[in-house]
Amino acid sequence: MNKREVIKAILQDAYLQLPKNNSGSAFAPTNIALVKYWGKRNTELNLPMTSSLSISLGEKGAKTTLTLHEKSFDEIYLNNQLIAIDSAFAKKLIQFLDLFRVSHSHHFKIDIHANIPVAAGLASSACGFAALTQALNKIYGWNLSFKELSILARLGSGSACRSIWNGFVEWQAGKQMDGMDSHGESIDIQWPELSIGLVIMSAAEKKISSREAMQRTVETSSLYKVWPEKVANDLPLVKQAIAQKDFILLGKTAESNALSMHATMMSAWPPVSYALPETTSAMQQVWELRQQGTDVYFTQDAGPNLKLIFLKQDSSVIQRFFPSIEIIHPF
Ligand code: PMV
Repeated sequence: MNKREVIKAILQDAYLQLPKNNSGSAFAPTNIALVKYWGKRNTELNLPMTSSLSISLGEKGAKTTLTLHEKSFDEIYLNNQLIAIDSAFAKKLIQFLDLFRVSHSHHFKIDIHANIPVAAGLASSACGFAALTQALNKIYGWNLSFKELSILARLGSGSACRSIWNGFVEWQAGKQMDGMDSHGESIDIQWPELSIGLVIMSAAEKKISSREAMQRTVETSSLYKVWPEKVANDLPLVKQAIAQKDFILLGKTAESNALSMHATMMSAWPPVSYALPETTSAMQQVWELRQQGTDVYFTQDAGPNLKLIFLKQDSSVIQRFFPSIEIIHPF
């Protein structure tokens, strides 16, 4: 099955119809995986090898507005700046829009406002495709369910299927070839004390996309074969930690999961490392703080930045160690 067939199965009669409205707008939070998604069993449909579990970052994310316009091409603005139509960013977005329309039948002005650095491992594609999918739902008037929106967002970027919800979200890997059982599911537990701190080493665009790095890892890394076992071990632990509000279990499982994911990349060939020297020293600082008795843990995605995980009560100690940290309260 290809993307168009999946979209047709979801939209049915509404597939390839003209928009019902002149504009559609939606916000989606970015999400940080506590148990990571790394590796696909189907690269066309972004079907993952394993399930994963994330936390959405509340007000940090992207707001996307689609407006129909008379021009014969799409125009993309990111934070009010016109994006070159032949850039990788624009191409990926337009390819996604093309899946939903008869070619040249209509075009959009696309306005994206993101309050996180784009393409720097801060899961900007996750909130980007989740917001875009929901803006499409509004402009075309599809009235889709969250589950259907999650499946469509996944076709843009895997992790986007988790950004349809706030709070904790599990992405069920699913078993079906068409991926209709591979979507996010909200976990209805609030944890108001939980804090996430963004430690930004670089907002520059990453040198290797997560898509490419993942594929290379699956194909060449000798450590990849143990990755599904690691996830099978960590997922129930993180769920237990959330249910029991066991912060130490949550932190250590998330940190260990992230380090294991990066180990699979380091053992790929050619090797992939997203770390800068500053990333490694920030990790050492976290370990140092833990030795001094502060319960703080980190996770890292496809970029050099770290996301610290801690409880509100420890905010001031952590701020002293990481003066530039941006603290987010997801609940
Ligand atoms: O959805 P993608 O292709 O941007 O991949 C995301 C991969 C990680 O951020 C590293 C892990 C995750 O689960 O979000």
